[in-house]
Amino acid sequence: MTKQDRVLIFDTTLRDGEQSPGATMSHNEKLEIAGMLDDMGVDIIEAGFPIASEGDFKAVSEIASNTKNAQVCGLSRAVYKDIDRCWEAVKNGVNPRIHTFIGTSPQHRAIPNLTMDEMVERIHDTVSHARNLCPNVQWSPMDATRTEEDYLCRTVETAIKAGANTINIPDTVGYTAPSESADIIRMLIERVPGADQIIFATHCHNDLGMATANALAAITGGARQIECTINGLGERAGNTALEEVVMALRVRNDIMPYKTMIDSTKLMNISRRVATVSGFQVQYNKAIVGKNAFAHESGIHQDGMLKSADTFEIMRPEDIGLSETNLVMGKHSGRAALRSKLKDLGYDLGDNQLKDVFVRFKALADRKKEVYDDDLLALVSDEETNSANDTIQVKSLQVTCGTEGPQTASLALIIDKVEYSHKAIGDGPVDAVFKAVQALFPHQAHLQLYQVHAVTEGTDAQATVSVRMEENGKIVTGQSADTDTVVASAKAYVNALNKLLVRREKTAPN
Ligand code: KIV
Ligand code: ZN
Repeated sequence: MTKQDRVLIFDTTLRDGEQSPGATMSHNEKLEIAGMLDDMGVDIIEAGFPIASEGDFKAVSEIASNTKNAQVCGLSRAVYKDIDRCWEAVKNGVNPRIHTFIGTSPQHRAIPNLTMDEMVERIHDTVSHARNLCPNVQWSPMDATRTEEDYLCRTVETAIKAGANTINIPDTVGYTAPSESADIIRMLIERVPGADQIIFATHCHNDLGMATANALAAITGGARQIECTINGLGERAGNTALEEVVMALRVRNDIMPYKTMIDSTKLMNISRRVATVSGFQVQYNKAIVGKNAFAHESGIHQDGMLKSADTFEIMRPEDIGLSETNLVMGKHSGRAALRSKLKDLGYDLGDNQLKDVFVRFKALADRKKEVYDDDLLALVSDEETNSANDTIQVKSLQVTCGTEGPQTASLALIIDKVEYSHKAIGDGPVDAVFKAVQALFPHQAHLQLYQVHAVTEGTDAQATVSVRMEENGKIVTGQSADTDTVVASAKAYVNALNKLLVRREKTAPN
């Protein structure tokens, strides 16, 4: 493989992805996702925005210290104190990187109130400062695709002269079309002195549904780094999806002869994990990792598939780590079978953790004849998200509902180790439960989203409930899974409140 064939994968799930309102991940979840990204062969992990909060700083610095292979990168504005903080966070990594940016388009230039010349000077000073601290410096002209060509060339040249070794060209508002995405990189390579010494990257948002196409087009224009996120998570309509570019480069290597180092068999597990921890479920018809991406329902398709899989399949499910047999487990399955199944699904649990999950698995298998992969994944993540150390816990719940009202919920919560109970009337059982929670633990947080997702088919399916809440600009998403949707709703609400308590502690004045 020559340098020219190689495309670097820069994952920003933990920075741009996590910036998406409601996608907030806990510290441990961020460490876990970073470990999975490193394991699957991502070249650069953008782990956060260290100046943004103490939590972000801690996450970036722990990820930098723990990551074995990937470069770990932090984001910073074109401000000295941001860059210093970023360096503090990444400096213990095997191969740290500082990513600094400033908005160069007319729309963005107005914000720092700098003239065009002053901005060029700022770019020179901040990139030089970053490069004096760190050998790997990436610079981004934010909203590059709406920046005047001449000015874009001038700023890129300045950043290269000041020591940037990667220049990222963001399509911040997802405005560009594929031909333009290729042209802009080609134009920069042709016009900017020193462009042949650095790597151009592409960072595309999906507002017009063109993020993946734009990223791939940029590669044909000469870019050699793609910024992307798992499941395309990201602000508004999201970012380029990592799994899409990786599989597109693999399946259509005939016309795009470029390679990544990603082990594609790890895609499915990381996609599921990111969906769980972010609370953003993957749409069923999402390319590569959607539930239906490999499902062939129609008779004609099934017939063709039985004769030869490539009649309708351009890639095999196992290429992305979907086990061919969704081995069903039941109440007679033992602990060893559970351990092995969970290992296949990407979970290597310790003995104690396995013991707890096994107890819950048995309880689920008693209620549900067949336990599928997705059931197990919901169960493990529920075990991880709802901890016995949480301040608020659901003790018991009884509801009355049906055609004859009123719908009521009798709920008992343990709050700080003390049991409290309350009976509430609501407009339906879930509303009654939420009113009971509100009465037992009064709070000002607003419910932004309540979402129910059936984990598998069948009326005995587990439901995963997501509850997104907002309090003074802080957004958290709680989750829980149970075969009883109302119980899952109560636990998801309580999970969101527990997360909110953690966020309140983190931002409380000293
Ligand atoms: O979309 C964007 O412009 C960004 C930059 C900070 C790279 O995320
Ligand atoms: Zn972005």
